[in-house]
Amino acid sequence: METLIIRTGNHQSQVLLGESYKQVGKYLPEARVIAITDKNVHRYYKDFISQWPVIVIKPGEQNKTFETLGYIIDRLIRLNADRSTFILGIGGGIVCDITGFAASIYMRGLRFGFISTSLLSQVDASVGGKNGINFRGYKNMVGVFRQPDFVLCDHTLLKTLANHEFITGFAEVIKAAAIRDESFFSWMEANFKAALDQNSDVLQEMIYRSVKIKAEVVEQDEKERNLRRILNFGHTFGHALEKVTGISHGEAISVGMVMAAKLSEKTGTAPAGTALRLQQLLSGVGLPLLSPVPPDELAEAMARDKKKEKEQLFLVLLRRIGEAITMPMPYTELKQHLHDLR
Ligand SMILES: NC(=O)c1ccc[n+]([C@@H]2O[C@H](COP(=O)([O-])OP(=O)(O)OC[C@H]3O[C@@H](n4cnc5c(N)ncnc54)[C@H](O)[C@@H]3O)[C@@H](O)[C@H]2O)c1
Ligand SMILES: [Zn+2]
Repeated sequence: METLIIRTGNHQSQVLLGESYKQVGKYLPEARVIAITDKNVHRYYKDFISQWPVIVIKPGEQNKTFETLGYIIDRLIRLNADRSTFILGIGGGIVCDITGFAASIYMRGLRFGFISTSLLSQVDASVGGKNGINFRGYKNMVGVFRQPDFVLCDHTLLKTLANHEFITGFAEVIKAAAIRDESFFSWMEANFKAALDQNSDVLQEMIYRSVKIKAEVVEQDEKERNLRRILNFGHTFGHALEKVTGISHGEAISVGMVMAAKLSEKTGTAPAGTALRLQQLLSGVGLPLLSPVPPDELAEAMARDKKKEKEQLFLVLLRRIGEAITMPMPYTELKQHLHDLR
């Protein structure tokens, strides 16, 4: 088992890697605990979760809304949650995002922690202190930066995860390697098959290396003023695809990364062959590479992305596998490029 400490401002957040979820009691404060989970996770882990009062939300991106947030707040009031209550989110990225937000605003903020149950949330979503919900189709439009006290990542929880959900998590793993760590990328090329087979040592190392990259970036730039933007590699395209097609976050990010890598080659920031290497690893794990959306429709959706600042979009491009840069690009220029990125 390994612990990573993320220090931001005067807060310390612990990421517990390879710890059994059954040991969570060791990390909970001496306080009343209320759990928040979704229906799917609750079905599998009901006996374990039943030790606390629990709020069960509906699963799915379409429920990451004000309505669900209102439901959680209402239940917290009925359960007499007060400022001393500790909130424990048990679930994937959606449960963690909305739990962190509810805990941050209820009575001006309660302490909270996560048991992260999906691959995507273990390697990315539950680490880093971004909490929030969607609003009228805008992804993550409303939320706060606030760090959990701990995030417990137990890879044995992934056994009950649907295969499709497991695979989508690899998109954020490959993203982390592509933007920051060439040696991890090579390691993934050599080990992805064992990871797909849920080889315990390989999974543990893969999750550890992904979280370490995220932790380093977040420590340097918690509020995304600069460096943290590189974590959005593939996301400007990806969020637009997610919105237009309804495909999952991981799949959309996979396609988005391929587009961003091709654009990096096209604009001369990355050498030829960069996109191909990325494509080979993504398709190896079973992630999609091609956008099903016509370029103009995608451009429209991107123009509505919240990361658009005035008439420019901030794009994350690669300099090579293992190094990312951010670059402002006028929206009109990007629209031109989009036609050649298919
Ligand atoms: N805050 C951040 O920094 C950040 C980063 C990346 C992604 N995200 C967000 O994360 C969300 C996606 O996360 P996700 O892919 O985990 O989606 P999710 O939370 O919907 O989980 C995927 C599905 O698997 C089920 N599930 C989760 N764990 C399970 C388990 N152990 N066994 C059985 N079923 C299980 C869930 O009920 C759900 O149906 C998106 O909303 C995205 O915006 C946030
Ligand atoms: Zn993401």
